[in-house]
Amino acid sequence: MTVKNRLKDYAREVEGYLRSSLKGKGIPAGLLEAMEYSLLAGGKRLRPVLCLCFARMMGAPAHAALPFAASFEFIHTYSLIHDDLPAMDDDDLRRGRPSNHKVFGEAMAILAGDALLTEAFTLMTASCGDIPADRVMQATATLARAAGAAGMVGGQALDMAYTAKAGVSLEELREMQALKTGALITAACVCGAQLAGADAHGVERARAYGQSVGAAFQIVDDVLDVVGDESTLGKPVGSDEQQGKTTYPSLIGVERSMDLARRHAAHAVESLALFSGEEADFLKDLARYIVDRVS
Ligand code: IPE
Ligand code: IPE
Ligand code: MG
Ligand code: MG
Ligand code: MG
Repeated sequence: MTVKNRLKDYAREVEGYLRSSLKGKGIPAGLLEAMEYSLLAGGKRLRPVLCLCFARMMGAPAHAALPFAASFEFIHTYSLIHDDLPAMDDDDLRRGRPSNHKVFGEAMAILAGDALLTEAFTLMTASCGDIPADRVMQATATLARAAGAAGMVGGQALDMAYTAKAGVSLEELREMQALKTGALITAACVCGAQLAGADAHGVERARAYGQSVGAAFQIVDDVLDVVGDESTLGKPVGSDEQQGKTTYPSLIGVERSMDLARRHAAHAVESLALFSGEEADFLKDLARYIVDRVS
C-alpha cells in the first residue's frame, strides 16, 4: 500500500473518533456547529496519526491512545481557526471551505477555537483507564507545554512580530517555525512514546523524529504557498507574500528551501533507524512523503 493510502487509513480511524467526540456534551447548538464545521472539514490528521503510530510502535495497545491522539486535532484545528482571523493571517479559505469566521463571524470563531482548545483536555484525560494515569499525566504536561506560550502560541506571536518586518534572520525564522509548527508535531510523537511507556531513549528518538518532520513540514507549507494549487491545498496561495510573511522561500528561494526540507526528512528517517515493523516503516515513508506532498 502507498504511504498516502496508509495515511488515509490511519486518518479514517481518527476521523471516526472525532465524529463522535462532541456528541451529547451539552454544547450550545451554535457553538457546536462552529466547532464541528472546522473540526470535521477534512484535513490530513497528521498530528493524531503521529501520536497513534508512535504509541503503537512503542508497544501501546492499538486503540488505547486514540482519545489522546484526537486531542491534537482539537488543538491544531483551534490554531487554524485563530490563524485565519483578520487580525492574524486574514485568510478566507481553509480545508476547502470558507474560513470559520467567514461563516460564523469573528466572535464565534474565537469562541469555537477557545472551546476546541479546552475540550482537548477532556479528551486527554479520557485516555486514563486504557493507559496508566501517570503516563497520561506526563503526556498531558508535554502537550500543554507544546501548545502554550513557549510552544505553538509563542511561535505564532513571533510569526506576527516578523510579519512585514525586514531583516529577519534564518535563525530567527527557524526558531519561529520550530515553535509555531514544530512544537505540536514533536509533542504528537513524544506523547505517543510517553503513553506507551517508552524509556528515555525511545522518547528521545520520538523527539528527534518530530523535530525534523516538523521543520520539513513547515518549510514545505511555505513553499506550497508559493507554488501550490489553491483547490488542491484547500487554502489560499500567495497569502504569505501578500501579508509580508518571513518564510523560507522569501529568504532563500524555493529550490534551496526544498533541499533543506529533504535534509530534515532524511534526518527524521535516520532517527528511527533502530525501529522496525509496520508503524516504523510507515513513519519513515511519511517523513519522505511530507516533502513530496501537494496538499
Ligand atoms: C497547516 O497544517 C498549518 C501548519 C502548521 C502548517 P496542516 O497542513 O496539517 O493542515 P490540515 O490539518 O491538513 O488542514
Ligand atoms: C500556521 O502557519 C501555524 C499554526 C500554528 C496554525 P501558517 O499560517 O503558515 O499556516 P497556514 O498556511 O495558514 O495553514
Ligand atoms: Mg500563520
Ligand atoms: Mg496562516
Ligand atoms: Mg502557511
